[in-house]
Amino acid sequence: MRILVTGATGLLGSALVPALLRAGHEVRALSRSRRHSSESVDWRVGDLVSGEGVREAVRDVDAVAHLATSGRRGRGAVDVPGTRALVVLARAAGVPYLLLTSMVGADRAPYGHLKDKREAEAVVAGSGLGWTVLRATPYHQWLHRRLSALRSLPVLPVDRSLRWQPVHAGEVATRVTELLGAGPADAAVEFGGPQVIDTGELVGTWLLTQGLRRAVVPVRYPGRLYAAQRAGELLTDALPKGGITWRDHLTPEPAHVFDDDFASEHTASPTSPATQPEGDPDLHVYGGDEGYERPTRS
Ligand SMILES: NC(=O)c1ccc[n+]([C@@H]2O[C@H](COP(=O)([O-])OP(=O)(O)OC[C@H]3O[C@@H](n4cnc5c(N)ncnc54)[C@H](OP(=O)(O)O)[C@@H]3O)[C@@H](O)[C@H]2O)c1
Repeated sequence: MRILVTGATGLLGSALVPALLRAGHEVRALSRSRRHSSESVDWRVGDLVSGEGVREAVRDVDAVAHLATSGRRGRGAVDVPGTRALVVLARAAGVPYLLLTSMVGADRAPYGHLKDKREAEAVVAGSGLGWTVLRATPYHQWLHRRLSALRSLPVLPVDRSLRWQPVHAGEVATRVTELLGAGPADAAVEFGGPQVIDTGELVGTWLLTQGLRRAVVPVRYPGRLYAAQRAGELLTDALPKGGITWRDHLTPEPAHVFDDDFASEHTASPTSPATQPEGDPDLHVYGGDEGYERPTRS
């Protein structure tokens, strides 16, 4: 199949492009920045917010893997209006299948960024296209990036009541590849990591594997999204699940290493959030995605 990948330079996209190539698909990849196409990847410049380049990008493809996101701080610009614009143009171009990546809990806890993801899901489900939504739990790579941004802090605030089920983005890419090959499910499918851990274990394992020692201050984050995360609404029992644990990811065995050189050769945009240093002054690691509530001491 010829597959258009939006968000091809992101954390998931940079694993998905090589996974699709390995599965024998042709890849057309969208980015806001100009990149050189190779024999295997046809890079197109496009912006889902302005609409630039999108009409051309959806022409003559068999499926769209829609990964692009403006993230939790982007006010849903890409996720909601961007998805709507993509869907309209895909339908006009006669694209038979669109797969959207979303987040586990978007249906049960539509707060903060998960509300944008829920709206994007509704746009796709009502699009008239063949569709699948893949809701994933947070990626190891994303958590590692967020924790790394706090390296310089002498004390880390930790809300141990929050539960996580991190998953490797490479395994999510494999699942996306399978779902694309299977054709539209006209349903939402969930995919999570192999273990549920609390924030204490998440941070403790990270500190240990990074060779860091930090004081930890117990906090309890307020808000509906954290309450939902505490109650387990952002976890999934769905099978299959990923096999690579948080610890595996931080201390990789050769068998767990995905081909990152291959991935960065094919993707890694200089403007992608995946390649930006974290300079997020509002950052607090340990809680969902709404990003506004300040931690309070418990
Ligand atoms: N990160 C997680 O832990 C996690 C967990 C569950 C689900 N998900 C979902 O998985 C998907 C991928 O997430 P990710 O973390 O891999 O994303 P990411 O690393 O934040 O990358 C975002 C991507 O969106 C593209 N993008 C941003 N604005 C755009 C615009 N206006 N027009 C076109 N493209 C635009 C960027 O491409 P350019 O900069 O090259 O234009 C980039 O490739 C998303 O649907 C996300 O909701 C993520």
